[in-house]
Amino acid sequence: MPAHDIVIVGGGGAGLRAAIAIAEAAPSLDVALVSKVYPMRSHTVAAEGGAAAVIRDNDSLDHHAVDTISGGDWLADQAAVEVFVQEAPAEMIRLEHWGCPWSREPDGRVAVRPFGGMKLERTWFAADKTGFHLLHTLFQTSLKYGNITPYDESFVTRLLVADGRCQGVATIELQTGHVDVIAGRAVILCTGGAGRVFPFTTNGAIKTGDGMAMAYRVGVPLKDMEFVQYHPTGLPGTGILITEASRGEGGILVNRDGYRYLQDYDLGTPLDVSDERHPVKKSMELGPRDRLSQAFVKEQQKGRTIPGPYGDVVHLDIRHLGQARIDKKLPFVRELATKYVNIDPVYEPIPVRPVLHYFMGGIDTDVEGATVLPGLYAAGECACVNINGANRLGSNSLTELLVFGARAGKAAAAFAREHPPPDLAQLDKQGVEEQHRLARRFIQKTGGHERIAGLRQEMRDAMESGAGIYRTEAGLQAACDALAALRERFADLQLDDRSLTFNTELTAALELDFMLDVAEAIAHSALARRESRGSHQREDHPERDDDAYLKHTLAFCNGAMPRIDYQEVSITRWPPAERVYGR
Ligand code: FUM
Repeated sequence: MPAHDIVIVGGGGAGLRAAIAIAEAAPSLDVALVSKVYPMRSHTVAAEGGAAAVIRDNDSLDHHAVDTISGGDWLADQAAVEVFVQEAPAEMIRLEHWGCPWSREPDGRVAVRPFGGMKLERTWFAADKTGFHLLHTLFQTSLKYGNITPYDESFVTRLLVADGRCQGVATIELQTGHVDVIAGRAVILCTGGAGRVFPFTTNGAIKTGDGMAMAYRVGVPLKDMEFVQYHPTGLPGTGILITEASRGEGGILVNRDGYRYLQDYDLGTPLDVSDERHPVKKSMELGPRDRLSQAFVKEQQKGRTIPGPYGDVVHLDIRHLGQARIDKKLPFVRELATKYVNIDPVYEPIPVRPVLHYFMGGIDTDVEGATVLPGLYAAGECACVNINGANRLGSNSLTELLVFGARAGKAAAAFAREHPPPDLAQLDKQGVEEQHRLARRFIQKTGGHERIAGLRQEMRDAMESGAGIYRTEAGLQAACDALAALRERFADLQLDDRSLTFNTELTAALELDFMLDVAEAIAHSALARRESRGSHQREDHPERDDDAYLKHTLAFCNGAMPRIDYQEVSITRWPPAERVYGR
């Protein structure tokens, strides 16, 4: 059984940043970096538009904090936001030193662009392939350190807890099907979000909520799971992201009449985004994502969207930027639109519609990434620290995974130094149990009547219809009921593939199992929150209700359905107020 000091699950941005932080802060500790894909295939690679951090003289840490807190409809923990904005600039400069090719101004300064809900320009970018460059930078930096051992294409199925602390993970080596234990004094989950719980998402196929579900199963609550983000501009059919940077650079959204419909909604005055004299007034297309996605639904209800083969769309028009600027700042947008919808945005507007993009909620952690289970840490999208509140601002998440990936790494290193090595005998026993569970439950099972694809589609449909952009009591209750029925039917699942080599049917079954847990936490948390805030819009409770719901939801694993509880929101310097954009 391999034993390390720290086991990191997930080789994307947060996992790599945590590994580097440990390697730098504690060179004597050794780290296992366990990933179900090769790290360069982690979903961080798909991020496009940029990463936010204060850099310009007209900006301040307080401005970044206020934008983040108001963008999150006052549900963000303000103490965590202050840590985040303070540490963000140093993280970005550190990446620069590690080789990240940030785009520059002609005078050589790092370039920043406007982004939704950010009232000043503070989004650093590398053209529109920021995630790709950021992930490469972190990956190549991690290769410097001899004490980081990769376990690529290893699928973690369970967290192992002994003597009240997390001491390792059970994994399937995907090439051989071999079930093993990787032991550690501490474990950090960096497994990303769970967009695949919904049918139409920007998220890669690997984002199935594995870490969230595993933490939930060992008693760690999932926090604020009702807050899921729809990005307003996904490509119809595939859900591929058309970055907010296209609006940051000046793109506009128009309805079927060619009308900039966002001026009819509460998103501020339409201003030319190139008007440098009024940076704080830029809004409309640069409003926050929750409001833009909600405006699309309203526009659709008014019959002013454009029917298409994959549902209604609106048009994102960037033609006025001109080919030179598009090719310099938005080359990927041009490539994606041309390849996937056969539209060259230099000449034609791009059809777009809202698409599930991000989870504000996740594994409940403090600002060091620590969970309530000693030895278990989490960072990145799978975690909820909580800086995003009820609606994350675009470009805060790449920065979040850097700041809190590093903090989780350092905190786990400190924990590992203070605790004895893992109890290998207990872990070995649990590993054998897990091997038997997987064999009995999946590989050797006969006589089942359910198949993965049917259950998965029904789960996604239930989530879309009950827990989408607008929600009601009846719709959410129906989603909860549907999920309970699916959970029962999952027990009757039958696999056809009994092989051990890259058994993708087995991994899809395990992912569906994880997703059902995550879906249940979302639907029940949303049902219990009888107000509208940020991305959680209840048609039957349309107002924000700070008296009753200025608090975080905690969903605990509890047999047939989650137990819901609440936690205080940390309010430090900015009392709850109205969200105002560009007035
Ligand atoms: O539109 C985008 O480029 C997305 C950025 C983000 O989610 O932070």
